[in-house]
Amino acid sequence: MQINILGFGGSLREGSYSKAMLNAAKELAPKDVILEIFDIKDIPLFNQDLETAPPESVRMFKEKIRAADAILISTPEYNHSIPGYLKNVIDWVSRPYGDNAFEKKPVALMSSSTGVMGGVRAQEHLRQSFAYLNMYMINKPEVLIPAVHEKLDANGRLIDQMTAEKITELVNALSQWSRQLKK
Ligand SMILES: Cc1cc2nc3c(=O)[nH]c(=O)nc-3n(C[C@H](O)[C@H](O)[C@H](O)COP(=O)(O)O)c2cc1C
Repeated sequence: MQINILGFGGSLREGSYSKAMLNAAKELAPKDVILEIFDIKDIPLFNQDLETAPPESVRMFKEKIRAADAILISTPEYNHSIPGYLKNVIDWVSRPYGDNAFEKKPVALMSSSTGVMGGVRAQEHLRQSFAYLNMYMINKPEVLIPAVHEKLDANGRLIDQMTAEKITELVNALSQWSRQLKK
C-alpha cells in the first residue's frame, strides 16, 4: 500500500538546514512512500476574520493536508520555541473550530539546530499543540539533530550516517503507522 506524506516546515531561508533534512527524508524514503515537500512561504499571517473563507494558498494547503496519509515536519528552534511562521500555519490549518484538518492525522517530527540541543524545545512545543489538535504522533525515534551545519556537504546534502539512519527509521515508523490506520 502506497503512503503519501506531506512534508513542510524548514525555515524560509534559501539554504535552510532544516529544509535540507526534509530533502534527505525524501531521498531516504522507501519506494512505496511518496514524500511531497510543500513550501509554506506564501501562507499569509493568520487573521481570524478570514478563517471561514481563507486565502487561496491556505485553502489549498488544508486540502493537501486532508489528502495526505501523514505529515512530516522539520523545524529549527527559534528562541527556545517554534518559529512564528510554523505556528502561523498550524493556526490556519486548525481553524475554524470544528474544521481542524490535522484531526487524527499521523505526524512525525524532526528538529535541527546549529547548537548542541538539536531543537528539542521547539519539538516539545510542537508536540504540545499536536496533542491538543488530536494528531497521531510518532513518539520514537526522536529525531533531534544538533550541529546540523556539520552534517551536510557543500551542496546541502546530508552526509552524516547516524542522522540518515534516524531519519530513515522515522519515515519507516510514520509509514507503518499510517498503513495500520488505513486498514
Ligand atoms: C531568530 C532565531 C532564533 C534562534 N534561536 C535558537 C534557539 O533557541 N536554539 C537553537 O538551538 N538555535 C537557535 N537559533 C539558531 C538556529 O539553530 C540556526 O540559525 C539554524 O540554522 C536555523 O535553521 P535553518 O537552517 O533551517 O534556517 C536561532 C536562529 C534564529 C534566526
